[in-house]
Amino acid sequence: MDSAPRTYTLALLPGDGIGPEVTAEAARVLDAAADAHGFAIQTSEHAVGGAGLDAEDDPLPRATLDACLDADAVFLGAVGGPDWDGYAADLRPERGLLRLRARLGAFANLRPVAVSDAMAERSPLRPERVAGTDLLIVRELTGGIYFGHPRERTAAEAYDTMRYSVAEVERIARVAFEWAQKRSGRVTSVDKANVLASSALWRDVVSRIGADEYPEIALEHLYVDHAAMEVVRDPRRFDVVLTGNLFGDVLSDLAATLPGTLGLLPSASLGGRVGLFEPVHGSAPDLAGQGVANPLAAILSGAMLLDALGEGAAAASVRQSVDALLTDGPLPADLDGTASTSDVGAAVADGIASFTLTS
Ligand code: NAD
Ligand code: IPM
Ligand code: MN
Repeated sequence: MDSAPRTYTLALLPGDGIGPEVTAEAARVLDAAADAHGFAIQTSEHAVGGAGLDAEDDPLPRATLDACLDADAVFLGAVGGPDWDGYAADLRPERGLLRLRARLGAFANLRPVAVSDAMAERSPLRPERVAGTDLLIVRELTGGIYFGHPRERTAAEAYDTMRYSVAEVERIARVAFEWAQKRSGRVTSVDKANVLASSALWRDVVSRIGADEYPEIALEHLYVDHAAMEVVRDPRRFDVVLTGNLFGDVLSDLAATLPGTLGLLPSASLGGRVGLFEPVHGSAPDLAGQGVANPLAAILSGAMLLDALGEGAAAASVRQSVDALLTDGPLPADLDGTASTSDVGAAVADGIASFTLTS
């Protein structure tokens, strides 16, 4: 008896700058993975960020949000750019992304950073120090100083509020500990507990959850300034790095120096019914429109999306195809190659069929 293939609905939000360029390649690879693994992905495209402002005067138009809330998964390219920098704080493209994360309940942002031997050779850091790095940043994404009130700018002053509740820290700490159980059993919690009240609470709550619920996990605490140095000096000491919204933002771009480019770092933002998948990088206005951006961060975010849908075999074949490309090429400009964004996407998509046959 014929049965219809498994079908997932995907809301695609290309956004601004290089966002549409890398999103097109991620979508191409997702389609190839679906074909090879016997399921279907039904995509619809929606405006967000600057594109939302241009179309609807809103960085998160109502129709976009509704489509995201209805979908099985959401993929976002990037938002922002100089065209929209003059907008008021609450209308900036970036605020649209923050609202989307909040509305999806996507409080857990997972940002894996792994450096193979082939990538270590191209790192701006000493290859023997970074080869074998395999860490996971677990960044709290819907709280902290990004969302705290009061937040105000007047002619004379401006302020933001870094606020964390016990419940917010408990739930993100559990995510980090659960990942450590599946990985190497170590959590480094990063804060500024020597100065900030919100961090002192953070540290106490993480310690309690660790001791009460995950005694087998080795937990250490680092101040964020010290952690920043260690990420560069000895990245292999880290397994799971648990941290708040702002510190996680900064540490993840810093961690991009390990493989040498933001063009390789994917992310998944989970917690609600619908996950949000987006590269760590932004809209790269310096590259936009040239067809030279590296789409691998977007493509690897697509692999995280497949994992979240329960299509682990398809995710694995995407990663295998990316690994082969990192060894054999064709490579994009940020990895010292000459391949265009679409050359790279096409090569990964082509590779998937062969990895599916041989695996
Ligand atoms: P950015 O991440 O866009 O770029 C930083 C540097 O990394 C640039 O030199 C850029 O060329 C390079 N880079 C980024 N992605 C790349 C890729 N795929 N391939 C090759 N090189 C890549 O950060 P920025 O310049 O600080 O910010 C630009 C805009 O993007 C701002 O408006 C910012 O708010 C926004 N932004 C959006 C997101 C997001 O949508 N998730 C994330 C970060 C920044
Ligand atoms: C990221 C970005 C966003 C953040 C901005 C664009 C709101 O830098 O995803 O890392 O700070 O979270
Ligand atoms: Mn960032």
